[in-house]
Amino acid sequence: MRRARASQVGPGPGDPEPPGPAADLDSPQPAAGLGGPGPAADPRGAGRLVAFEGVEGAGKSTQLRLLGRELERLGREVVATREPGGTPLGERVRAILLDPASAGMHPRAEALLFAAARAQLVEQVIRPALDRGAVVLCDRYLHSSLAYQGAARGLGVEAVQAVNRWGTGGLLPDVVVLLDLDPSVGLARRPGSRDRIEDQELEFHRAVRLAFRDLAEADPDRFAVVDGDLPAEQVADRVRAAVLARLEERRVGLG
Ligand code: TYD
Repeated sequence: MRRARASQVGPGPGDPEPPGPAADLDSPQPAAGLGGPGPAADPRGAGRLVAFEGVEGAGKSTQLRLLGRELERLGREVVATREPGGTPLGERVRAILLDPASAGMHPRAEALLFAAARAQLVEQVIRPALDRGAVVLCDRYLHSSLAYQGAARGLGVEAVQAVNRWGTGGLLPDVVVLLDLDPSVGLARRPGSRDRIEDQELEFHRAVRLAFRDLAEADPDRFAVVDGDLPAEQVADRVRAAVLARLEERRVGLG
């Protein structure tokens, strides 16, 4: 699986097409023509964006890796990346965001920094990969900002969505895998020093969990909610089944 690091994925040769989102923030449906066989094939290829979301310690990274291997076995090009980060600029912004020394950062500044890192990742890594027809697996994406900054920080989901609509050129994930877990369980899985956001009180993380569940309920076609408290192999089975079914529904050829 290709892990998108700045050293591996350059800025790309510039987009020959107008931004052609996999799915647009203004329309709940994915773009027509999803690259499957047949006349409706999307000129961008069969690229698809799958985001993994959840509270701290929910198991996103492990599950992302396992799904990536599975998709590669099915013959897909897979690009794995993470947020905040995934580009040299994004990794520098990540360091600022997570540094406990950034205490006192205003919630709006925080939301804008997450959106800035995302904007860079979309242009430098995600769109070029989608244009090649790859499946992009992203460890967190837009819905983390909606849950953490929009809901838990109290900025409002609509406001954060608007900033990100602009920042990403409207690129929505085709599938969101939500690993649902009680945050006290997730935080207990990772003892040791906590970054600035992990270090928020438990109530904050509970609000994040509830927000993710609300977002999933409001958008059931996009979300696959999996119980993150199950053994990892069972989670992996459910993630694989749910993602393949959704990609299939969207007529993505899986080899
Ligand atoms: P992540 O790398 O997933 O941390 P971890 O591996 O510890 O789960 O995410 C970093 C932190 O940033 C995490 O606490 C969630 C937070 N975050 C937001 O608050 N908003 C966002 O938009 C994103 C992408 C992450």
